[in-house]
Amino acid sequence: MADLVFPDNFLWGVATAAYQIEGACDEDGKGPSIWDEFSRIPGKIVTGDTADIACDHYHLWRQDVALMRSLGLGAYRFSISWPRVLPEGEGTVNEAGVDFYSRLVDELLAAGIEPVVTLYHWDLPLALHRAGGWPNPEIAPRFAEYAELMFRRLGDRVRFWVTLNEPWVVCHGGYLRGELAPGHKDLEESLRAGHTLLLAHGMALARMRSLRPDAQIGLAVNLWPVHAASDSEEDQAAAARLGAYVNQWFLDPVYRGDYPTAMREAFAETLPTFTDEERRTVQRPLDFVGVNNYSRWLVRHDSERFLGAAQMGAPGPVTEMSWEIYPEALSEIICWVQEQYSPPAIYVTENGAAFEDKPDERGRVNDQDRVQYLHAYLSSAHRTLAEGAPLRGYFLWSLMDNFEWCFGFSKRFGIVRVEHDTQARMMKRSGYWYAQVIRANTLPSESSDT
Ligand code: FCB
Repeated sequence: MADLVFPDNFLWGVATAAYQIEGACDEDGKGPSIWDEFSRIPGKIVTGDTADIACDHYHLWRQDVALMRSLGLGAYRFSISWPRVLPEGEGTVNEAGVDFYSRLVDELLAAGIEPVVTLYHWDLPLALHRAGGWPNPEIAPRFAEYAELMFRRLGDRVRFWVTLNEPWVVCHGGYLRGELAPGHKDLEESLRAGHTLLLAHGMALARMRSLRPDAQIGLAVNLWPVHAASDSEEDQAAAARLGAYVNQWFLDPVYRGDYPTAMREAFAETLPTFTDEERRTVQRPLDFVGVNNYSRWLVRHDSERFLGAAQMGAPGPVTEMSWEIYPEALSEIICWVQEQYSPPAIYVTENGAAFEDKPDERGRVNDQDRVQYLHAYLSSAHRTLAEGAPLRGYFLWSLMDNFEWCFGFSKRFGIVRVEHDTQARMMKRSGYWYAQVIRANTLPSESSDT
């Protein structure tokens, strides 16, 4: 295989999220989020960790930007903690919180790194949860006000905005399965939460667009190809149903003005309907679709399971998350987005892998498994360019080991190792490797060529 050259101006980045790295959970006027509450409930986080301190990025941010500079990054995708800037979710602004992000943006720009801001990466202000949370449609205008606030404060320097990160996970994990905050298990709530999230996205986008028409505004969705375990009609139908639920729940309303038929069939009246006005709100054009992809799902028909689809074990090697290493998933799903919706641009807003990462006696991590994973997924992404996909950038998850939601600190996704007791950072082999890829704007033919 030859070296794979990426287009000029291809945006090379890394991604993080506020709750997973910042810590300082109640410092300088920050209000609590649903994750601050959820992580304290015994049994919710498998390791018993909270992200009260996390990677202490709230204090170590300069050092972290210096690390990013040494990686030669072109962009950094981070999220804003809504309750850090609006402790009650609305009303009084916590200026100390806004300043934190404003300084971070300046530092990034000074380092030549393009900031990419995600407005919602799962940490809903607790006060808004008490007011009903996402199932309450009133939260949508609150989100739009918060988006406008941040846009007014940072929009002069930040070009790229992601309204929501993985609304599907918010609904499925937070309101149906209960594995993520706020830990509810209610189908109706979950579907209503999805409806509010779509409205929140549309309202926020409209406000930002009216302030600065040239801002680049998109949505980051988790997209995983869903494959049938066999050719049988039943298995194929099960895969199609689950695929519509996972991959089309949010993109179909944005691009087609309604939920996919398979969801209407499965959930009937429980699935909200769009008024004409809501449809207009939701259907505003995006500047890009952000694709978060790690793997695929393999399913077979099972009438006892949700949507009649049972997930099979991975037939091949897996990461520490038990997610199958299946690089073709990334090109398949990018091409699928292009075919289905033809957005003007696509960014891979997350891709990466958790591995065990045993450090040597000097604490160094020779994570060849991660390098191989990244190499395979990046070549897969590169293939879509030849197919004409408007792939404009790639954000590796994640800059550093962090708080992996209900798994606590047990899953390490970083290309920088973090010792969670001392906060020491150390570049892993994958970090040096990624820096080389960025510098050359080229993927070397062999992943071990470093
Ligand atoms: C995604 C989340 C991100 C991280 C990765 C591993 O679903 O957006 O915060 O947890 O998975």
